[in-house]
Amino acid sequence: MAPSTDSGRQEADDWIGSRRYRRIALLGEGGMGCVYEAEDAKTGDRVAVKVLHEKLASDTQSVERLRTEAEIPMLLQHPNIVRVLDLVFPPAVARPFFVMELLEGRSLLDHVHLDGPVPVGDAIEIARQALAGLAAAHLAGVVHRDVKLGNLFMCLARGSAPHVKLIDFGIAKLLPIQAPGLTPHSFRTREGAYLGTAQYASPEQASGKDVDPRTDVYAMGVVLYTMLAGRGPFDDVKGTASVLRAQIDRVPEPPSKAARSPVPPELDELIMNALAKNAEERLASADRFAAALEDIGRRLHAPAGWLKTHLFDASEFAADPTVPEPAPVSPSASTTDKMSDSWAADIPVQPREPESPPVAVVPESVVDEPPSAPNAPSGDQPTSGWTIPRFLAIALIAGIGVAVLVFLGARMVP
Ligand SMILES: Nc1ncnc2c1ncn2[C@@H]1O[C@H](COP(=O)(O)OP(=O)(O)O)[C@@H](O)[C@H]1O
Ligand SMILES: [Mg+2]
Repeated sequence: MAPSTDSGRQEADDWIGSRRYRRIALLGEGGMGCVYEAEDAKTGDRVAVKVLHEKLASDTQSVERLRTEAEIPMLLQHPNIVRVLDLVFPPAVARPFFVMELLEGRSLLDHVHLDGPVPVGDAIEIARQALAGLAAAHLAGVVHRDVKLGNLFMCLARGSAPHVKLIDFGIAKLLPIQAPGLTPHSFRTREGAYLGTAQYASPEQASGKDVDPRTDVYAMGVVLYTMLAGRGPFDDVKGTASVLRAQIDRVPEPPSKAARSPVPPELDELIMNALAKNAEERLASADRFAAALEDIGRRLHAPAGWLKTHLFDASEFAADPTVPEPAPVSPSASTTDKMSDSWAADIPVQPREPESPPVAVVPESVVDEPPSAPNAPSGDQPTSGWTIPRFLAIALIAGIGVAVLVFLGARMVP
């Protein structure tokens, strides 16, 4: 591909060279590439497309990393992991890219920036869902290595239960027990090289040592800490090298001290356990972390309801018949069921059957009248205009009957 002197203009001119995907808007930009909202000309659907930066398009390692980033979610197919739909490489197109479901909502980072600290019940449920996604990745031998607020997406699409999705497997690592179906060579990293985001890096990651799922457990400790306190454990430290040093040897103050609102002691303790410097002392897995959170959530009876209070009036879901069925998220129905039990429990979502109109309280015979009957109302207003004349007629007949009885009674009185 000819080098561009004006990459922005080049992007606008030929974008990715795909006939099928048409760019609509830029959603986000990072070190590896850009994420765009696009239209799939074949299906007419809106999708998200992650395109490798032009300058990296000829770098084999970056291209392979992008491939793996797409392959992991394709393999995992989990409700708490973004769905990848397509993966397209040159020469079919000018630039490598992959296509994802378009998530509606906002990243947890934006959420905390805009709304501040997250209430305890919400923080527990958000973390529990993120951990469910991570547990599935770990089971397949994948360590995410870049778990952070910006890589957790709060999905708030109309018509589906609110949920969290893990995105961006751009620097994921494959463990020796990796599941078949992934391209292993793309996971190689130089020995001793640090890879990740400093504010979330586990001590072993910060020191360039081998990592395992407990590194993601640590990062989830930072995520929970940040949700509750509105700031990370080492946000006061300046400079990447100093933050990494702090991750290795400085014990942060517990979230209960950093947060303005009370943090229950058991949650405080759990987060500090996830942040243990020694991986051996941490919760051994994302699964156990999720189970411990679930347990705490149950004992606290902390309701989760941020959607209702912070983003939009969720009650609009219920009345809108145009709302589509919730998208099928995963073959693993048990996890989905669990999700709607707790965090989403008090949020009205679109029922599978459209909500019955008020006609349900009217006797069936009235509802079943053909619309062509005299004075029949149109189909969308089946009750009021229809019942009132009948009621009046019955009242009139009854009134006449009573009047006759009264009249007869009066005549019979001696
Ligand atoms: N499937 C998606 N739907 C909607 N927005 C997305 C999607 N994937 C990513 N984004 C947005 O783009 C941003 C960057 O995406 P990410 O995959 O994290 O790329 P990067 O490698 O640049 O960090 C995210 O924080 C999110 O706001
Ligand atoms: Mg990211």
